Amino acid sequence: MKDINERDNGDVRERPEVCEEGIVRLSEIGDKIPKIEGVSTGIEGLDELFFKTEWEKKKPFRVSLGGIPRYSVMNLTGVSDTGKSLMVEQYAIKQAGKGEKVVFITVESPAAFVAMGMKERAKVMGVEEEKIDENIIFIDVASHTRLREDLPSLLATLAHVIKTYKIHHTIIDSITGLYEHKEMMARVIVRRVFNFLKKWYQTALLVSQKRSGHELMSAEAAGGYAVGHIVDGTMVLYKETIDSSYKERLYGLPIGEIVRLFRIDGCRLTGHDTYIHVMEITEKGLVKIGPSLLELLQQRTRTKSKKKLIQ
Ligand SMILES: Nc1ncnc2c1ncn2[C@@H]1O[C@H](COP(=O)(O)OP(=O)(O)OP(=O)(O)O)[C@@H](O)[C@H]1O
Ligand SMILES: [Mg+2]
Repeated sequence: MKDINERDNGDVRERPEVCEEGIVRLSEIGDKIPKIEGVSTGIEGLDELFFKTEWEKKKPFRVSLGGIPRYSVMNLTGVSDTGKSLMVEQYAIKQAGKGEKVVFITVESPAAFVAMGMKERAKVMGVEEEKIDENIIFIDVASHTRLREDLPSLLATLAHVIKTYKIHHTIIDSITGLYEHKEMMARVIVRRVFNFLKKWYQTALLVSQKRSGHELMSAEAAGGYAVGHIVDGTMVLYKETIDSSYKERLYGLPIGEIVRLFRIDGCRLTGHDTYIHVMEITEKGLVKIGPSLLELLQQRTRTKSKKKLIQ
């Protein structure tokens, strides 16, 4: 009779073993269970889009979380030039301004160039330069190919930085840069990075690039839906050219204008707004999330009916 451990091709595999340390009663998890709280992002109009439920006299109430969930690993995706880097830089500056340590893994641009933009943005956000000098640490993958090619070395470097500087926030711009020439590996790489960030209780933002063929408002990105499936949540940025009278009416903007849009595609840790919102990049390079298209439409209908009343 065939040994249960023997594979069809005759290879003998190891006897399956019970992994005792992988078994834990819920009651024993104790203080490893993170408290649901919000991390303010420094991006106007974003924090109130996440919410949690609070109970009063056995009645549930929806309250704003005041930011993205702490310890969440969030994906920020969109085609080129939609404001992904600006958003994560704004987030980094905000945390540094609060005195919290941030590690910024820059894969697309060398650290010096990112630092240049951040110093500008910190001024606009009213955060002292000393704070960002003190609290933002770069891992410059863009200038060190070994870190791009060798994930274990990157994770070892990240572990070293997290321990040495007591880091609470990790940003990767972009995670796509770690598998852009081997998209088949996307799932494996994202899974390893995600597990690592969870193990170290990081609140993390992973930027991922959308390819032009991808559905613009979905969580799909380079590497397919791998990123969106693995991470805790996805925020999608996109921009559209006003090229029809329908879009002119919908967005209230003239033909030829660009409208920037934002949507939270999902978040498994807390409740969140699901509407499409207009988004703005100010002249000074700050990202702001505006009203939802629904609110805009309601505003416009109200103004119209007011005008009618006056006439
Ligand atoms: N300092 C700035 N001041 C004003 N606008 C800026 C500034 N920096 C960037 N922008 C505007 O924001 C847009 C988006 O910039 P950002 O670098 O965040 O895009 P991205 O989504 O990260 O693009 P990519 O995928 O190519 O990295 C730019 O096209 C530019 O119009
Ligand atoms: Mg970018």
